[in-house]
Amino acid sequence: MHTETLAVHAGRKVDPATGAVMTPIYLSTTFERKPDGSYTEGFVYTRSENPNRRALEEALAALEGGEVAAAFASGQAATLAVLQALAAGDSVGSPHVIIPEDTYFGTRKLALEVLAPWGLQASAVDMTDLDQVRAAVRPTTRLIWVETPSNPLLKITDIAAVAEIAHAAGARCVVDNTWPSPILQQPLALGADLVMHATTKYLGGHSDLLGGALIARAPDDFFARIRTVQTTGGAVPSPFDCWLLLRSLRTLPYRMAAHCGHARRVAEFLAGHPRVAVVHYPGLPSHPGHAVAARQMQGFGGMLSIQVVGGAAEAMAVAGRVQLFTRATSLGGVESLIEHRASAEGPDSPTPPNLLRISVGLEHPDDLIADLAQALG
Ligand SMILES: Cc1ncc(COP(=O)(O)O)c(C=O)c1O
Repeated sequence: MHTETLAVHAGRKVDPATGAVMTPIYLSTTFERKPDGSYTEGFVYTRSENPNRRALEEALAALEGGEVAAAFASGQAATLAVLQALAAGDSVGSPHVIIPEDTYFGTRKLALEVLAPWGLQASAVDMTDLDQVRAAVRPTTRLIWVETPSNPLLKITDIAAVAEIAHAAGARCVVDNTWPSPILQQPLALGADLVMHATTKYLGGHSDLLGGALIARAPDDFFARIRTVQTTGGAVPSPFDCWLLLRSLRTLPYRMAAHCGHARRVAEFLAGHPRVAVVHYPGLPSHPGHAVAARQMQGFGGMLSIQVVGGAAEAMAVAGRVQLFTRATSLGGVESLIEHRASAEGPDSPTPPNLLRISVGLEHPDDLIADLAQALG
């Protein structure tokens, strides 16, 4: 089936009790046992499983080309579950993970800080340089975490090449596919073992829900440990958020096509602007990762970042003058956002101080360009 068709039908079934065409919201936290002790449809307690979460997980697995999925209360909860599943006994001694040096700062914090007291070892490398990835591998390396395009520099990592390095080392390759979404990039087909999403972003698409997901090629032992962390740890999304997210998935292919088209127009405009020193957008032929991106992506996405001529003050001033864009963190919604990223990441941020991260929304690109033009001056 084509992606557009899958997006509409995956995880959807007509409600047998009422004939409702769309899945109703099942808010009940608990489910009745029959006299013989069994459960109708296998639902027991909503932390373990819920009809809305099951429908959502089926749809997410179908869209990513995986067999199974686990939905979480946020992207961070999903990332933490991967690392906790590792720590649950995947290696002799402390497991070691390799992460990209410019990965989403929350991922870096979990790997380098939060789980360090539990014995997790982590190395951050420039993952666009495969030699650096190979050099970072240790006998205890159990996982290589990929994020491409990266947040916020939009560096492109060759997923197939890193998956090969991981497998040769006896490790797993996990890809944070939040920015491209399954519409623009399918890591499992490129050799990755697990896909992670902050569904808060493009999959939700309207800046009104928080969620995360993990999708695996197969229900193997590692996925079983993830499932245990999900259902026992309890960082699960509410039935309403599952329903809302599934509703958003129905339009994902069309939203992504528009995000890509609009971002390309905005990137081309910014690339020709004298007050913009650098545009980071993999769709531009001048981007160092353009060739790899063109090979492994079906579109270049709706995110870009720019480095304004000058420093932090000049970048802040540009963000301060926008009228149509909203100054806010996050991304992937229908509305365009602009953010001074280094100040959002905090004092230890490695992000260039003159960088503005832009999430290009679904407004008409001419209006977005006009707003950036007046803001840049
Ligand atoms: C690439 C990426 N991964 C993970 C996350 C974390 O997701 P959440 O905020 O839903 O926990 C984000 C959030 O911005 C992100 O951009």
